[in-house]
Amino acid sequence: MSGDFHERVLIAGCGKIGTRLGEELASLGEEVWGLRRQRVQLPSPLKGLTADLGVPESLQAIPAGITRVYYLATPNTYTDAAYRMAYVDGLHNLLRVLADQGQTPRRVIFVSSTAVYAQQSGEWVDETSLTVPTGFSGQRLLEAERLLLQSRFPGLVVRFGGIYGRHRNAMLRKVQAGEPCHTEPLLYTNRIHEDDCVGVLCHLGRLASPEHIYLAVDDAPCTQCELMDWLAEQLDRPKPARITAAQSPPRTGNKRCCNTRLKTSGYAFRFPTYREGYQAMLASNRTDGSE
Ligand SMILES: NC(=O)c1ccc[n+]([C@@H]2O[C@H](COP(=O)([O-])OP(=O)(O)OC[C@H]3O[C@@H](n4cnc5c(N)ncnc54)[C@H](OP(=O)(O)O)[C@@H]3O)[C@@H](O)[C@H]2O)c1
Repeated sequence: MSGDFHERVLIAGCGKIGTRLGEELASLGEEVWGLRRQRVQLPSPLKGLTADLGVPESLQAIPAGITRVYYLATPNTYTDAAYRMAYVDGLHNLLRVLADQGQTPRRVIFVSSTAVYAQQSGEWVDETSLTVPTGFSGQRLLEAERLLLQSRFPGLVVRFGGIYGRHRNAMLRKVQAGEPCHTEPLLYTNRIHEDDCVGVLCHLGRLASPEHIYLAVDDAPCTQCELMDWLAEQLDRPKPARITAAQSPPRTGNKRCCNTRLKTSGYAFRFPTYREGYQAMLASNRTDGSE
């Protein structure tokens, strides 16, 4: 997809991942525009656009000739209304403005999540598995996925698992705080390091003839207890206590996500499992931020 053609990329929702993605794409010679509500100085050579995806008029400033779009906006709060605004209404507004402007991007990439799966028994899922989310987060994400894939634009959906990294260290803090992990049922967790989020988005954006949906998780779905036990060992802390669903009902689905399609497309993980990822985090001692 890249070749000699000049790429003009729009990153709608240019926050932590978007900014790093923009820097990576710019280093490959692409022109990158980062859109967000707050007027912040994006690192050079990224070009900033101050606009609100909830306010279509503000999107008129999008430059002509956009060749690729990434949609990475996040909701302000954990409510249905905020999720609808950030994922469904914001995407709808953007697609409508691009259409009205006569823009013809060759790819529009929507960042979704594994919350679209409602499976509860630790079963393996892939891009062809049933998506019948019961919670509003998965429902709104799925609605936005369909909005894009049924639009006039060539759409691509990336479903990230739980992101961890320098800016997201909730699991480490849980272990440090001595929180328990779930048994009965054993809860699976599917993770991806934030560096791989950037790598995957860069790869899929530039891939010739991609599929429409990709699951983006590392090679090692594991139980919450396995991960927390391992982290406790690294941190020289006691193993977490065990609790059951009866004591504390888990809030998440329970499935193992398969990354075969992504790897077959040629993506090589920078951190293939949580071990490499957390070891790098611990070594660099940069565990600020939140997940
Ligand atoms: N956390 C996880 O484990 C997880 C899992 C799966 C997927 N994801 C996805 O990861 C992606 C982003 O991650 P991130 O770390 O880069 O998040 P982030 O740093 O919060 O960036 C999101 C950006 O969206 C902008 N934004 C929000 N609402 C907007 C609006 N109405 N108009 C314009 N811009 C808006 C925000 O900037 P302003 O406030 O300045 O507008 C912010 O810079 C999201 O697509 C999220 O769904 C996360």
